[in-house]
Amino acid sequence: MKRLLVLAAAATAIVASAQTYPGSKPISFVVPFAAGGPTDRVARDLAEAMRKSMGGANFVVENVGGAGGTIGAAKVAKASPDGHTLLLHHIGMASAPALYRKLPYKPLEDFEYVGMINEVPMTLIGKPQLPANNYRDFENYIRANAGKLNIAHAGLGSASHLCGLMWQSAIKANEAMTTIPFGGTAPAMNALVGGQVDLMCDQTTNTTGQIEAGRVKAFAVTTAKPLSGHKLLKDYPTLREMGLKNFELTIWHGLYAPKGTPPAVLAQLNTALKAALKDPDFIKKQEGLGAIVVTDKRVEPAAHKAFVTAEIAKLKPVIEAAGKFAD
Ligand code: MLT
Repeated sequence: MKRLLVLAAAATAIVASAQTYPGSKPISFVVPFAAGGPTDRVARDLAEAMRKSMGGANFVVENVGGAGGTIGAAKVAKASPDGHTLLLHHIGMASAPALYRKLPYKPLEDFEYVGMINEVPMTLIGKPQLPANNYRDFENYIRANAGKLNIAHAGLGSASHLCGLMWQSAIKANEAMTTIPFGGTAPAMNALVGGQVDLMCDQTTNTTGQIEAGRVKAFAVTTAKPLSGHKLLKDYPTLREMGLKNFELTIWHGLYAPKGTPPAVLAQLNTALKAALKDPDFIKKQEGLGAIVVTDKRVEPAAHKAFVTAEIAKLKPVIEAAGKFAD
């Protein structure tokens, strides 16, 4: 009886708070990777745009890195469903089920889907000292130095890990490099710029500035078509153009709330998200970094969930083919 009263009180509190949501209590975007990286960048730009579209609501970004993004996701899966703890995550939402046999949450059951945000191309990059200046020389160098090189990534199931995995199997060089995990590609990028690691595949939202400044070398992009609309990235070939038939990888990002978040709160968040995705400042920032802001039906919760469901099914065989589990 006492437990029922407590639950009833909690439910009443959540319903009551839904009526005044968001109020003054901050809304936290949990980013499951280190600060300063590509996912963090999307979260900070979106927080700024949603602060505007929600009439000055107070947004904060909370970085909870580790285990390829699964630790931050698990935190939100268990969070109070009051709309004040949200998850901003990427393709890792779909790769984790195939990689982690003991995943502490169910991506399709433990979350409410708020809507998709963007799709970010990736770039294959190398440390400044790497003796290659185009993709062909780069791939030949990899082959000539099999077993002597390393590739950085942000943990098993991260976008950078997935890209490395797919690229290495596409060039049939699965064992050619040792992999070095970091808590995000921000710290991995520091190691690459410093020459402590040899190469990485990372999102343009994190690489464009480093490439422009000449702090890293870039060799190719992972999109199906060349990024001819981007002033810098237009100069790099696609991996398809380099002979990797059907190779394509863009990193989609979406917004999630704990299961049981009131429908009224979800509707408010979705409305604010859609307004933010139309915000010229947000679009300019994202496109400047090579990202494509989502404008199709995937900004709606149902289509967002359907897309992630399809991605889970699509990535499972790719990951299983590599035969490596995270746990
Ligand atoms: C990050 O924000 O650090 C990246 O998204 C990590 C990754 O998934 O590669």
